[in-house]
Amino acid sequence: MNDRLPPLTPYTFGSMSLGHDPAKFPDDVRVARHAMDLGLWVHSSRAYAGGKTFEVLKKAFDEAPAKRPRTMFKVSCESATELAADVEFTLTSLGLPKIEIAQLAGKTHQKRDIVADFLTQGPMYQTCSRLKEQGLVDRFVFEIFYSYSADALKAVQNDLFDGYIFYYSLLERQVSNEIWQLLWERQLPVLALRPVAGSFLTDSPKLRERRQTDPKHPAFQRLDELAPVLAASDCHDLLELSLRFLASHPNVVTAIAGTGSLAHLDQLESSVRTAKPLAPELVERIRTLHRTWCSQEATYQFAKELW
Ligand SMILES: NC(=O)c1ccc[n+]([C@@H]2O[C@H](COP(=O)([O-])OP(=O)(O)OC[C@H]3O[C@@H](n4cnc5c(N)ncnc54)[C@H](OP(=O)(O)O)[C@@H]3O)[C@@H](O)[C@H]2O)c1
Repeated sequence: MNDRLPPLTPYTFGSMSLGHDPAKFPDDVRVARHAMDLGLWVHSSRAYAGGKTFEVLKKAFDEAPAKRPRTMFKVSCESATELAADVEFTLTSLGLPKIEIAQLAGKTHQKRDIVADFLTQGPMYQTCSRLKEQGLVDRFVFEIFYSYSADALKAVQNDLFDGYIFYYSLLERQVSNEIWQLLWERQLPVLALRPVAGSFLTDSPKLRERRQTDPKHPAFQRLDELAPVLAASDCHDLLELSLRFLASHPNVVTAIAGTGSLAHLDQLESSVRTAKPLAPELVERIRTLHRTWCSQEATYQFAKELW
């Protein structure tokens, strides 16, 4: 099923939290090094922290070249020129021989011209094929947001890419019902971004305070709808429920969660690696909620609310 993607670690370390605070640079390098010691895949983008995340990763990679991780990077799919330039910039900045998985991402979330381009084997298709032939990128996965479902549906129907990557957690599924159903029926590889829903699935004083000041926030309404499912499960908390929900889907090949904390990194790595599938009736209850939430245009708005 998933042999067209290289074998991924169940947990991919998302590096977006690293590099924001110069005073924390050594701590951030330690977190990246720890992800490497754990043998994890690493996800990143040249845009994170205005480029500073790459500086953290470069230091970590240079300190332990033998432990250099397998990587997944966002690259622009606005044009063939930008796409090739992003690959080159990423490889040069980090001193890497290749990108194992490139995530085709756009600047805005309105449409994806790359779908029509791939269907007609246009310039972006040619560039991706060349990058593969040159051994600079192994695989290309297509990023999906609900707002360009029409293009994304064509991509999935024609199975244009090696895998599909989108926000997917207990709280949020950023693809339409029709697309999700196709991905599931065909067991196409899915890479789940933000399985902690940007920390909305953890209990923190900050979140409790936010619930008090903003009780009508759609995330809290969804969390209320999920509470009976959590109560009916043997999970300790919503994060465990989220990770076990994702583990209930054999086509979800990795969960990409971010942290700037060594303790959370260890916790995420072991929780994702050991997550057991949920009972089928619980999976179905969550899927039913997702079907309701993802039949609305508000789906994309929800992603923005969580940013
Ligand atoms: N369009 C895109 O391609 C896109 C967009 C967004 C993100 N991403 C990628 O996906 C990764 C994950 O996204 P994300 O960081 O926004 O969302 P996430 O992984 O769902 O949530 C991360 C947040 O959860 C907190 N957290 C993690 N484990 C925790 C634990 N055990 N207990 C309490 N809090 C915990 C982290 O805080 P601490 O730092 O305190 O642990 C962090 O604030 C990013 O790093 C990035 O690589 C990609």
